[in-house]
Amino acid sequence: MADSIFQPLAFKNLTVKNRIFRSNIAGRLDNYDGSGNQARINWEVKFARGGVGAIISSFVPVQIRGRIMPNYATIDKDDKIPFWRKVGEEVHKFDCKYILQLSHGGRQRDVPGIEYPMGLSSTSQAEPLHGFECQAMTKADIQETVNAFAEGARRAREAGLDGVELHGANGYLITQFLSSAINDRKDEYGGSLENRARFVVEIVKAIRKKIGNDFHLQMKISATDHNNALLFLKFEGVGNTVADSIQVCKWLIDAGADSIHVSTGSSFPHPRNPAGSDFPVDVLGSTYEQLASSGTHTIRNFLFFRGALTGEFFKQQWLHAGVPADQIEGLTLPDARQIKQAVNVPVLCTGGFQTASVIRAAIDRGDCDGVSIARPLVANNDLVNQFKAGKDRADRPCTYCNKCLVHVVEHPIGCYEESRFASRDEMMAQVMSVFAPPPFA
Ligand SMILES: Cc1cc2nc3c(=O)[nH]c(=O)nc-3n(C[C@H](O)[C@H](O)[C@H](O)COP(=O)(O)O)c2cc1C
Ligand code: SF4
Repeated sequence: MADSIFQPLAFKNLTVKNRIFRSNIAGRLDNYDGSGNQARINWEVKFARGGVGAIISSFVPVQIRGRIMPNYATIDKDDKIPFWRKVGEEVHKFDCKYILQLSHGGRQRDVPGIEYPMGLSSTSQAEPLHGFECQAMTKADIQETVNAFAEGARRAREAGLDGVELHGANGYLITQFLSSAINDRKDEYGGSLENRARFVVEIVKAIRKKIGNDFHLQMKISATDHNNALLFLKFEGVGNTVADSIQVCKWLIDAGADSIHVSTGSSFPHPRNPAGSDFPVDVLGSTYEQLASSGTHTIRNFLFFRGALTGEFFKQQWLHAGVPADQIEGLTLPDARQIKQAVNVPVLCTGGFQTASVIRAAIDRGDCDGVSIARPLVANNDLVNQFKAGKDRADRPCTYCNKCLVHVVEHPIGCYEESRFASRDEMMAQVMSVFAPPPFA
């Protein structure tokens, strides 16, 4: 029987050569002003060369106000189109497709940049982890933002990319509207599920109106919010359930979405996303400084990340709210399966995948049509080529230690798990390889 991992996946407007997608991985690779550079191209090419069928980009802000960190390439203006065209051309050389993630952080930011100290959201309640203050969007703000998503899709299409994904997951602006635990509006964008979904449904319709029906458009959604997973969030609601998300997916598909990418968790990070075998508070203590002091929970968070006892307490709480290490691979599959049974478009699933037999079994069972992989591909850029050569798992798999995650606020994105390398020098050479060829070559 043919290996289901290596069967092409046909969406309405896009065919991908195999079932493995590089999942979104943000990293501070670009210029402060949101223009892209060679390091981003080098990064994406690593995965294209390694055999994935398609790359789904990192968080790409549709407006400067929607960014979560400086040094992420944006798609907020037409002058960004040539850069994204170059990314697409380089990735296409490996018969790999490129899907751009249209994003807006809303109130959930890491380092917001200098232009807009205050984020916009569905609510005026500060984001609970860091305490970044925000303002509830007016209807004019909503209209402007819907239009910015549509313009982002037009630019991605003009750049010759293969599709766009709405970042509707993990606590960013679209989740802030969708989630019953976050959205406290009293107008037609809050309250019932239909009202909470209005913002994203309007985005899908605006994109279709702007660019037509023949360009790939998918939605990344947190199928289950698990919003009150952490102790200091216990007072907030649990958020959306998978039943809520199934209904949202149906509306989105009716409005013109071609596929659903299933994630989990109402924030980023969240104990279930990316689910970890560890939560390296010691690293966080040194990389998190600007984050901690930009919000309103500075003292609490310094204690969490700097104090020996409080740090251990936070770490244990975080790990307890996640899943045991041996259950990380495929932890979102039960949600993906329920969504797949309810919709008539291909479904992708993210979360811990790195074993060919596990991925194959998920596809063969009908839990999903393909998987997206982030950290295990950071650890082994050529994992798909290894699967093709008959390996079931890499010799040095990703340990889910989440050091890449906590380094990313300050340092270049890469695998920081020293135990996977012969030496620290070897590890650093791998991290720094993203700068070859150099940005000004
Ligand atoms: C360092 C890092 C950056 C990430 N950046 C993004 C992002 O920009 N957009 C997004 O939707 N998900 C992002 N994610 C989530 C991943 O795409 C993925 O869904 C999640 O890590 C679970 O998959 P994994 O177990 O294969 O890592 C990021 C994850 C990590 C570890
Ligand atoms: S640092 Fe490396 S081993 Fe640890 S989670 Fe990230 S990619 Fe995996």
